[in-house]
Amino acid sequence: MALKATNPTTTDSWKKLQSHFKSVKSKHLKDLFKSDAERANDLTIEWEDFYVDFSKNRITKETLDLLFELANELNLKDAISKYFKGDIINVTEGRAVLHTALRAPNDKTVLVDGINVIPKVHNVKQKIKAFTDSVVNGIHKGFTGKTITDVVNIGIGGSDLGPAMVVDSLQFYKNHLNTHFVSNVDGDHYNEIIKRLNPETTLLVIVSKTFTTQETLSNANSIRTWFLETQPKEAVSKHFVAVSTNIESVKDFGIDEDNIFPMKDWVGGRFSLWSAVGLSISLALGYKNFESLLDGAYKMDEHFRTSDFKDNIPVTSALLTIWYNNFFNAESEAIIPYTQYLNQFATYLQQGIMESNGKSVDRDGNKISYQTGTIIWGEPGTNSQHAFFQLIHQGTKLIPTDFIGYVESLHGNKEHHDKLMSNYFAQTEALMNGKTEAEVLSELQDQLLTEEAIKELLPFKVFDGNKPTTSLLIQKLTPESLGKLIAMYEHKIFVQGIIWNVFSYDQFGVELGKQLAKSILKELNEGVLTSNHDASTQRLLTFYKKNC
Ligand code: F6P
Repeated sequence: MALKATNPTTTDSWKKLQSHFKSVKSKHLKDLFKSDAERANDLTIEWEDFYVDFSKNRITKETLDLLFELANELNLKDAISKYFKGDIINVTEGRAVLHTALRAPNDKTVLVDGINVIPKVHNVKQKIKAFTDSVVNGIHKGFTGKTITDVVNIGIGGSDLGPAMVVDSLQFYKNHLNTHFVSNVDGDHYNEIIKRLNPETTLLVIVSKTFTTQETLSNANSIRTWFLETQPKEAVSKHFVAVSTNIESVKDFGIDEDNIFPMKDWVGGRFSLWSAVGLSISLALGYKNFESLLDGAYKMDEHFRTSDFKDNIPVTSALLTIWYNNFFNAESEAIIPYTQYLNQFATYLQQGIMESNGKSVDRDGNKISYQTGTIIWGEPGTNSQHAFFQLIHQGTKLIPTDFIGYVESLHGNKEHHDKLMSNYFAQTEALMNGKTEAEVLSELQDQLLTEEAIKELLPFKVFDGNKPTTSLLIQKLTPESLGKLIAMYEHKIFVQGIIWNVFSYDQFGVELGKQLAKSILKELNEGVLTSNHDASTQRLLTFYKKNC
């Protein structure tokens, strides 16, 4: 059964939130802490190796109660059950949304069109395991008998960002295989990667759910040409494998059926790293680590599916985004991991969050009159402190920020880790407390400045504070804890989509540009520019054509 479609702004709880907002919007976080000794305790969720402190958000307990009331009024519980059960909740594409089935244990039953999909999921996992083991253990050799040393993942969007982010984030757990990612149709991208590679020892993994994506097919074709410059055609089967739902097109490309790792259309591209799309993850980290990643995600699935909203990390986190986005009119959210390993995490989440909830038509097909998907951005701390934190601290925009930190570092350098984490803690305190005029005054007086100099400098040194943050403190970066973290954001996306009354699992917005690029390419190839373009594009194309 389809999801219910209700404009959230017409609900009673939304109206209550609007009037509640008036009483909360000017409250300072410092005062909220002063007036409630239990605040930090009450607004923290501890679950497994996750400690999630929501208390530095501009909310009271009543805010949360009203947000939960909103979730109830919009039937969130029922929607969650439909999501996990495999109902067709991706209505515009007529599909279920079942990345959760990819990490469910063998004994679960998830029906799609009356058929349990779990046995097939586990068959593919077995195939991934067998192939990974044979490559990692050097049993699968290249055509000339040499051991595979390098793996190249060729894909884009969800067929690149997830695997690339996970391999980079978990590089501590990596084996001897060198892993590379080619995504951009920019020929310089693949050339920079293959120039270092020996075709005799390289495994090419072509990943495309549809096997129609221009970037991936262009890169795959060019890389096959590079390969065949030195290797015979018969070598292709030892060096090329593919992940796709489109088995026929993969075979037409010249890849044997045995070398195809299938996936299903109920796996959205941006949620697909748990499927065969994660083959590069399994190759790079070993199958056991890939499975731990999946196990972590499954634990988060169960937490999300079964916990009361008040104890539920993804639900609380999603509702806070609604609070800031729709009541405070905040436009973006920053995600700042205090580990260099999660360098690609915000980039990965940009696709997940912005491709899913960047929608302006509701589930009934009406134009939406309220704000939906937020802009996501971020970089690891402490680097980001020296780049854009100035704007979060003293700029005019409200930017709710997730701080992700770990109790233990992986290489165990305690001295560095304490410095890193001091910054993590300090930033959230600084953002919350700010610095008052009186504090700045006393600091400047201590520096023995003249009264005139103090008067001039003082306004620039004041920090308003009251900047909201959520602190996620996780024991250690492991495949399992990363699986939990990614799944947490996946479920957050789902909850937001339900509340905003949008379809989160299509992405028609990326199609128009693709269509236009195709016809422009035809014009460039044929050397004839049509006059169908606006004056600006026409002049740009003419300039390009003349000078290229
Ligand atoms: O950018 C649009 C998109 O369809 C993404 O949703 C998807 O992850 C990406 O293109 C790649 O698609 P495919 O895996 O089919 O090549």
